[in-house]
Amino acid sequence: MSSLAPDRNLALELARVTEAAALAAARRQGRGDKEAVDQAAVDAMRAMLATLEIDGVVVIGEGEKDAAPMLANGEPIGSGKGPLVDVAVDPVDGTRLTAEGGPGALAVLALAERGTMYAPGRLVYMDKIAVGEESAGVIDLDAPVEENLRRVARATGKGVDDLTAIILDRPRNRPHIEAVRRVGARIRLIRDGDISAAIAAATEGSGIDILLGIGGSPEAVTAACALKCVGGGLQCRLWPRDETERQYAAEAGLDLRQVLTRDDLVRGGEVFFAATGVTPGELLDGVRYTPGGASTHTVVMRSRTGTVRYITAHHRFDRLSRVTDIYGAGSAGAPPPPVEGPVRRQRG
Ligand code: FBP
Repeated sequence: MSSLAPDRNLALELARVTEAAALAAARRQGRGDKEAVDQAAVDAMRAMLATLEIDGVVVIGEGEKDAAPMLANGEPIGSGKGPLVDVAVDPVDGTRLTAEGGPGALAVLALAERGTMYAPGRLVYMDKIAVGEESAGVIDLDAPVEENLRRVARATGKGVDDLTAIILDRPRNRPHIEAVRRVGARIRLIRDGDISAAIAAATEGSGIDILLGIGGSPEAVTAACALKCVGGGLQCRLWPRDETERQYAAEAGLDLRQVLTRDDLVRGGEVFFAATGVTPGELLDGVRYTPGGASTHTVVMRSRTGTVRYITAHHRFDRLSRVTDIYGAGSAGAPPPPVEGPVRRQRG
């Protein structure tokens, strides 16, 4: 039902959270310490999340509650007042990129109505296809990669050899890479960061037509939130690594044959997404330090209205440090304090 008074756009509030995580993580850029990047971003994100007027619960988080010390699945988020929401957090998508000084790492956060985000449990990987709006109705994860490329070519009015597929550079994605080569389409291999890659596939003019291959399950749900806002198509299937994971799926009632669409991954009609660049990338620029401060670049989106905003923020550490020390600003340029403890789930 429409009303003359627009309601709150939570995406704008999410920007403060992803900005804080990006600022904290970027302090550790290039130091070679992945855990320190993650810990700093988690701490900053967690402190800012507590200021949100929401009654949230983490559905896509840092892992199972008993295994991860913070931002764990099931953890309550926000003031406990306000809208009931599911929360997806990825304090840094691209922790390794940040630690090594590589491009394209993002701090990411998404919200949807309570009970609407798909929970992949302990299955950390999914096979994925993501495309833009005009190809959303033609993709089929059950069809061969070659067939999907032909269909996307027809839907976009391009030749197959004009298409560019973005793929995570992993041995498990070898078959996808070979299939793309067989039909003569182009490939863009990335080291990490398939949330940003899914958004690129769904964004006209990005130069990317399709995301293919096996990447993280939490990232698939978070990407579904973004694609629900920008209108892209996404299909995924859980990808167990071994018999133990197959067994776990059977016990947890997770269907390994089911093709999960974007709307299965996030069912609600009201979804908010925000991402801030940590290191410079094609979607967003990274954190840039200035004398006494830093600038950040953030995208915020809302599915109901389809509004996508790009926000450049200028942060002054002298003033911020009077309010909080969560930005890792210290005294503008001071080295970060030592950080302890790994928090991320293990993948193989
Ligand atoms: P994190 O930085 O959050 O660990 O994820 C980076 C990432 O590249 C994701 O974008 C992707 O979905 C996933 O890792 C792939 O997993 P793996 O690195 O285990 O192949």
